[in-house]
Amino acid sequence: LIQPVVLSGGSGTRLWPLSREKYPKQLLSFVGQDSLLQATLRRLEGIDGATCAPPLVVCNDEYRFVVAEQLRLMGLQGRIVLEPVGRNTAPALTLAALAARAAGDDPVLLVMPADHVVSQVAAFQECVRHAARLAQNGAVVTFGITPDRPETGYGYIQAGAALDAGGACAIARFVEKPDRATAEGYLKQGNYSWNSGVFVLRASVWLNALRLCRPDILEACEAAWNKSTSDLSFVRVDAEAFAACPSDSIDYAVMERLAGAQAVEGLPQGVVLPLSAGWSDVGAWDALWQILPKDEAGNVSQGRVMLQDCDDTLAYSSGRLLACVGVQGLVVVETPDAVLVVDQRHTQDVKKIVDRLKREG
Ligand code: GDD
Ligand code: MG
Repeated sequence: LIQPVVLSGGSGTRLWPLSREKYPKQLLSFVGQDSLLQATLRRLEGIDGATCAPPLVVCNDEYRFVVAEQLRLMGLQGRIVLEPVGRNTAPALTLAALAARAAGDDPVLLVMPADHVVSQVAAFQECVRHAARLAQNGAVVTFGITPDRPETGYGYIQAGAALDAGGACAIARFVEKPDRATAEGYLKQGNYSWNSGVFVLRASVWLNALRLCRPDILEACEAAWNKSTSDLSFVRVDAEAFAACPSDSIDYAVMERLAGAQAVEGLPQGVVLPLSAGWSDVGAWDALWQILPKDEAGNVSQGRVMLQDCDDTLAYSSGRLLACVGVQGLVVVETPDAVLVVDQRHTQDVKKIVDRLKREG
C-alpha cells in the first residue's frame, strides 16, 4: 500500500505578492486550473487505486478550509493533519508517519512537496512504482534530477553503486544546500543529482531513522500526536507540545546522515532513482516564467496585460490593466494591495522584501 503524504506548510515568500502568509503559493493556481496542491494530487491519478490510499495532507491550521475545499473539489476523501505552527519538514513527515502507525499500518509513504510542477506524469508514476518496490524492502528512496546549474537552494545527491538495472543507485553522499563553489564542483564532477524533494519510505523506516538521528524531534512529535484531537477529516495535534518541537528539515535531520562522512550507524539504505519528467520547483518568479507558455518575444502575460516592445517579461495582473513598454527581463505583478517590479536576475531577493515587511510592517 502506498500512502501519499503531501507537505503543504511552506509560505512561498519568494512569490510575493501573489503568495501570502494567509494564502501561500501551493494553494494558488499558476498553470491551468489546478492549484499546485491539486496538481500534486492529480499527479497520482491513474496509479492503481488498489495500491494507493487517499492522500494525507500535512499543513498549517490556518489553511485547513482552503485545503479541505481543494480536496473536495477533486472528489478526494483525504485526511488533513494540522500543525499549529510550522516546524519544517522533519516534524511534518513524523506526524504523517505517526498517523499511519495509529491506523495500524506500515505503508510506504510517498512524500511530496506541494509546490512542484511535473510535466510528464507517466514518467513520474513509473518512478513512483519503482521506488515503492525498493521502499517496501526498507530503503529510503529519493528522486534525482540532472542538474543544469550550480543552484544552491537544493540538496545534492552523489550516486554510488548501481543497485538494479532500472537506474537505482545507492546514495554515496547527500549534501543539503551547498554553497556556490561546492555546487559548482559537484556539477563538474558529474555524478551528482539534485534532490527533487520527493521521498519514498515506509512509515516505520522513517520513525526508526529519526529515533537514531533526532530522538528529540520524535519525542516532541509523539507527545503532540498523543494529545491530538480530530473532527471530520481534520486531525489537530496538541499546540503546546508541538510548539516545543525543534525545527529541522528531512534533509538535514536524516538524509545527510544516511551515508558519507556524517553517516550514522543503523540507518537504512539510501537510494537515488533518476527522475526525468519535466520537474520544476516553482520557487521564485524566474522559475514560473520558465515553465509558463510564452509569446514569440519570450513574454508571459496573465490577466489584463498589454505589452509593447517587451522581451522576456512576465506580466501578471489580478485586476487592473497592466501595461509595459520597451522593457526586458522584468517581472511585474499587480495585486489589489501591492505591486512588484523585479529584474528576472533578482527574483530570489523578493524574500528580502517579505522579511522587511514582517519587521517594518
Ligand atoms: N506541513 C509542513 N510543515 N510542510 C512544510 C513545512 C512545515 O513546517 N515546511 C515546509 N513544508 C513544505 C513546503 O510547503 C514544501 O512543499 C516542502 O515542504 C519542502 O519544503 P521547502 O521549504 O520548499 O524545502 P526546500 O525547497 O528549501 O528544500 C527541499 O526541496 C528541494 C527541492 O525543491 C529539500 O528537500 C531539498 O533537498 C530539495 O532539493
Ligand atoms: Mg521548495
